[in-house]
Amino acid sequence: MKVVILKDATEVAKYGAAIFVKQIKRKPSSVLGLATGSTPVAMYEELISAYKNKDVSFSEVKSFNLDEYLGIADDHPQSYRSFMNKELFDHVDIDKSNTEVPPGDAENPIEACDIYERKIFDCGGIDIQLLGIGRNAHIGFNEPSSSLGSRTRVKTLTQETIDDNARFFAKDEFQPHLAITMGIGTILESKTVVLLATGENKAQAIVDTVQGPVTAHCPASALQLHRDAIVIIDEAAASLLKNKDFFKKMEQENMRLEESLGNKRIV
Ligand code: F6R
Repeated sequence: MKVVILKDATEVAKYGAAIFVKQIKRKPSSVLGLATGSTPVAMYEELISAYKNKDVSFSEVKSFNLDEYLGIADDHPQSYRSFMNKELFDHVDIDKSNTEVPPGDAENPIEACDIYERKIFDCGGIDIQLLGIGRNAHIGFNEPSSSLGSRTRVKTLTQETIDDNARFFAKDEFQPHLAITMGIGTILESKTVVLLATGENKAQAIVDTVQGPVTAHCPASALQLHRDAIVIIDEAAASLLKNKDFFKKMEQENMRLEESLGNKRIV
């Protein structure tokens, strides 16, 4: 696991976006795994700027979102499909028919999960998966106790997650308590995983993820088993990490080595 500690959320967004731009330039038909929530919004703004500056094109890109609330349709203002259109897809040249979000209004959600898995497989798998992290270290909607080998399925949200996401819903609006989410096993099969976290309220989840034991009670800790996982965090989210100086030194050494190798990324 590579841990990159940066000054603030702006630097985190720029660093994350640069990795995605590099990936798409290297493979224009990349399959992206995408996330919603507050954290990736600034990175999506960076990707939109890169597109507008003609630095990158999404015309051949395919994408799969991590999750969607169960019980709301695509066109619901709080659906993750609406979020993705608003925060990214409407502003770049991606073909929306190449973008997949789990169907929150599926008549048969169990079957819909299997179909989602098959679609990922049929595309040759996800090249690079973006993740945020919950305060309880969930990734996607894989709440603590999720099996580390889990696949796309219906999950019950914890009260903590429901409370954290209540800010997106009006006071009397229906807020789903269930979601369809890629599993931890699905996420681990992505060739590269990029996790972004900013702010002090993510510090405990980050130290558990990076320096705690690998356990289903800290879903993001499964990334310790991934061969190319990059955790990009600001100083606030890094505040509980031990050996912060070592991570910073390692990043400097990696950058030096990468430059000398023509910008080939060191995992
Ligand atoms: C969203 C998702 C969630 C969020 C997490 C953090 O698609 O899968 O795991 O990444 O809840 O959300 P924010 O960024 O709002 O703190």
